[in-house]
Order: sequence, then C-alpha cells, then structure tokens
Amino acid sequence: MLYIVVDGFFGDTGKGKVVAYLAAADKPSLCVRTGAPNAGHTVVWRGEAAVLRSLPACFVNQESKLAVAPGALIKVDVFLSEAGRFGRGRSFVDFNTGVIEEAHVERERSDEFLMKTVGSTGQGVGAAMVDRVLRRLKLAREFDALKPYLADVPAMVREHKNRGVIVEGTQGTFLSLYHGTYPYVTSRDTTASGIASEAGVGPKDVDEVVLVFKSFVTRVGNGPLPGELPPEEAERRGWVERGAVTGRPRRAAPFNLDLARRAVLLNSPTQIAITKLDALFKDAAGKTRWEDLPAEARKWVDQVEAELGKPVTLLGTGPEAEHMVDLRRAKGLL
Ligand code: IMP
Ligand code: MG
Repeated sequence: MLYIVVDGFFGDTGKGKVVAYLAAADKPSLCVRTGAPNAGHTVVWRGEAAVLRSLPACFVNQESKLAVAPGALIKVDVFLSEAGRFGRGRSFVDFNTGVIEEAHVERERSDEFLMKTVGSTGQGVGAAMVDRVLRRLKLAREFDALKPYLADVPAMVREHKNRGVIVEGTQGTFLSLYHGTYPYVTSRDTTASGIASEAGVGPKDVDEVVLVFKSFVTRVGNGPLPGELPPEEAERRGWVERGAVTGRPRRAAPFNLDLARRAVLLNSPTQIAITKLDALFKDAAGKTRWEDLPAEARKWVDQVEAELGKPVTLLGTGPEAEHMVDLRRAKGLL
C-alpha cells in the first residue's frame, strides 16, 4: 500500500499527527518526507512533542525507515540533528535532494517582497529552489557529512511498497505555487501530484490519497483567508495557534466548504482526515471511537462527507497522535 498524505488548506492542518497515527497503526516499512525545512510537522507521542523539519513523522514506529525525497530540500545541520534524535540507523536522504546553504537564507531575508509582502518563513527555501531551476544548487551527494545516509529513494519506495509506504506532503493545497493564492504561496507544488513527483512515484503507484483538513482554517503569513476572524474572536473560540517554525500567530477562519471542495478537485483524494474535531465539539476530546463522539459532531462529519462526496475516515480529537477515530475499516478502506 502506498499512501500520500496531503494538506487541504494552508498548511498546519495536522499532517504530522495524521502521519504519526498511520505509522503507529499500520506500521509502514518506509516513509518519505517531501518539501523543505520551512515546514515544521508537530507530533505529540506519548506525552512528548517533537517538531520535524526534515524527517517524516513516522519516526514513532521504530521499524519504519525514514527517507527524504529527491525533490525535497534539506539543511544539512537540521537533517543530521533529526537523524540523530529521531532516526538513528534508519534515516536516508536521496542522492538528488537539494541542499539549502547560508547564502540562500541571507538572500531570502534581504528580499523585501518575500519577507514583507508574501510573509515568507525566511528559511532560504525559495532562493534554493531558484538555484535548482538555474542548475547551480548543490545536491546531497556533494556533501561528505551526508555520505552515510545517501540512498536511491524512488528505488526504496518500489522495494518497500508491498510492506507499506507513506509519502508525507508539506504546507497545503492553497500554498501551492501552481494552484494556491499566488503570489502568497510557497515555492513548490504542494498538491498530491507534486508530492508524488518529488518522491519519484508515478500516479499509478499511489493507492490512497489522504486529504487532511482541520475543523477550522488557519494561515500564517499574508494572502487571502476567506471568513477570517478578528484575533479576539479566534481567541474566544480557542483557535489561536502559532507557527511551528517561526512562532508567528496563525490567522483563523471557520471551516470552509468551498475551499475544501476545491482541494478535493485538485488532489483527488480517496479519503479525508479532519483534525481538531475537539476544537469544534468539546466533548469529542480524546475519543477514539465513532460511537463515543457527541451526536452533533457525528452529524457535522456526515454533512462534510456528503458535501465533499469522499469518505471521511480519520478524525483527530486531541494533540496526541493516538487521539484519533479511525473509520477506514468501517468504511471498507482497510
Ligand atoms: P516560504 O515558503 O517560507 O517562502 O513562505 C511562503 C508562504 O508560505 C508564507 O505565507 C508562509 O507563511 C507559508 N508557509 C511556508 N511554509 C509553511 C508551513 O509549513 N506551514 C504554513 N505556512 C507555510
Ligand atoms: Mg506546520
């Protein structure tokens, strides 16, 4: 089985949590991270929180190999530190993964349009992507410190597919360079097809596309956010969050069906995950069984499912990876 996990809004829907849950539940043999270290994926596992910027959130399953996609970018120090902390003896980076250097960070931080107008995270990702397109970016295979980790990740995906592979996307559908709210977007295509391409997986090898929404919409940085609430109202509803990498407060808006429909169109998901159900329905907190959810929460989920025409299979009910209602078996998807 090969799963792609993709964010349906503006990032920060809890992909890290969904991937960690799937890793614990399905014990995939390999996980592949796409994107770059501007994206921080938060995982809370048995009381401890971790933010991952290079490696996939699957580290919670000790048997999963952890790889970085050829189309992804890393910072060498961030990768090495995460490999040491979360993936000792099981971390890999593709020969062709791009490397962000200090000059990229500097170039980006002195770019007023990026920093002020777009609201970039200033991690050097866009500048490194420019160099990659101009064919002067250094790749992982050129760095001695990465030698012990180098691998052919597309070949690994093929080899492990029968034992379970998860490919983890970054950011979100509406931050896609092609399909998002340009120019208020990131420097790559963040939809399911872009994620597959970065990992070196052809479309016909993908079995499941899990599109992740949150029960409300958040956005960091600039650009349109339909239905945006004043910060006091977001606070009153308990929807205040901060960026995992930059610490910036996230703007918030109610769940938006038009955006969700567009995300379905762009990603052709086979199933949908909705995180933070407990932010809308307090009594959903920590529940792991559909029957234990409040009736109004179940009704809301059923309505979203009917509107989107795709099965809602995973419901996040709290910060822990294991705070999840998993309906895949009940809905014939496992
Ligand atoms: P950049 O990709 O760091 O240049 O940032 C471009 C835009 O994408 C800004 O609005 C950022 O806030 C947003 N962005 C980049 N990475 C993430 C992420 O991981 N989560 C949420 N927003 C992000
Ligand atoms: Mg994030």
